[in-house]
Amino acid sequence: MNILVVGTGAREHAICNAVKNADLYSIMSKKNPGISQISKFQISNEKDLIGIKEYALKNKINMAIIGPEAPLEMGIVNELQSAGISCVGPTKEAARIETDKAFMRDLFNTYKIDGSIIYRVFDNFNDTKDFIDEFGQNIVVKPVGLTGGKGVKIVGEHLKDGEAAKQYVKEIINNKISGHAQVVIEERLIGEEFTVQAFVDGNKVIPMPAAQDHPHAYENDQGPITGGMGSYSDKNGLLPFLDKKNYQISVKIMQETVNAIKKEVGPYKGILYGQFMLCKDGPKLVEYNARFGDPEALNVLPLLKTDFIELCKDIIDGNLKTADFKRKATVCKYIVPQGYPETGKSEQIITVDETKINQEGARVYYAAVNQKNGKIFTSKSRALALVGIGNTLKEAEETCENATKYVKGDVYHRRDIGTANLIEKRIKHMTTITSNL
Ligand code: GLY
Repeated sequence: MNILVVGTGAREHAICNAVKNADLYSIMSKKNPGISQISKFQISNEKDLIGIKEYALKNKINMAIIGPEAPLEMGIVNELQSAGISCVGPTKEAARIETDKAFMRDLFNTYKIDGSIIYRVFDNFNDTKDFIDEFGQNIVVKPVGLTGGKGVKIVGEHLKDGEAAKQYVKEIINNKISGHAQVVIEERLIGEEFTVQAFVDGNKVIPMPAAQDHPHAYENDQGPITGGMGSYSDKNGLLPFLDKKNYQISVKIMQETVNAIKKEVGPYKGILYGQFMLCKDGPKLVEYNARFGDPEALNVLPLLKTDFIELCKDIIDGNLKTADFKRKATVCKYIVPQGYPETGKSEQIITVDETKINQEGARVYYAAVNQKNGKIFTSKSRALALVGIGNTLKEAEETCENATKYVKGDVYHRRDIGTANLIEKRIKHMTTITSNL
């Protein structure tokens, strides 16, 4: 079987590693040192849908797995399916669950899905002013479309007050940030964020272990928001602050969403990523992604016991049954160039001793680096992720941290991700919220 993976980063490296007993092809925008070792590849633009279709046809691809959201938004699945190529990923219409935040919130409203929150959609700046003045609590301002994780701004965190929120709304509408003159204003949720990813076959939602991402650049969850500095998952599939009941409520919300998408625009097939906030009255939906999370894919894919390609076939055939995962904890830490996320130093050589990292029991997933003449060069973005797997979070964290010394260059990482100290803080935060009923 010929499998094509589209995408360049650590998430796609993890997807490629999960593909067994197949001929692997990839399309990536830079030479990822990991993906290029295990696949036949073409360096080209991930948004060049026609080019990707031609490459797939030329190489007799049976199935394409789409990593990032940008080609999904453009309709890569529609394009490949029209050429008879099966895809793991939603159609352009179903991907609106990620690419159109107004569509997502309206879906929750129309279908009365649990976990919904107060929100309004605006396309006129003047209409927003009274809403912001009268709302009476902190709000979150979101451009409706994709912004690479950089568009969401929270009053009290990124925006000083209601006046700053109004300015930002004006900027979004006037400049069509995210490509649309439209904005979603939502209530600010207070709680602990977590991720549930699931395989979806159009009807059935088969969930994976929960994970928690740490998007802040610096230790103790401080500093600017990044693409994710690391993440962890626990051996029972839950998180130290997330019990089975709330995990199951989250999965039910995802199932109801998939049922609603089917009624509204047709079946959703692929990976669905639910980002939730565990609030004092249970999980609320923050947003969806129409793909694996990055870094969260790196927590769950190495634990998969069920054959990944069999799962992909079941997604396409609408025949998912179950997915089994090893009962292990995982800790992922990203190594990033100095200055990231604002002024990440690009074109710096880094060295990665994969043998030593593997001897420590950790794994390497390359991200936004470029391999040239056998050397690895940084870009402005995240360089690579290290993942430790263990019987406990402590073991996984130590394995991951020990591996970091085998990456050399002008880089940094967060030492605290997965440590007892940081996890204790997250549990305490949740306890403060629930005891404050
Ligand atoms: N972890 C955030 C994302 O995948 O978008």
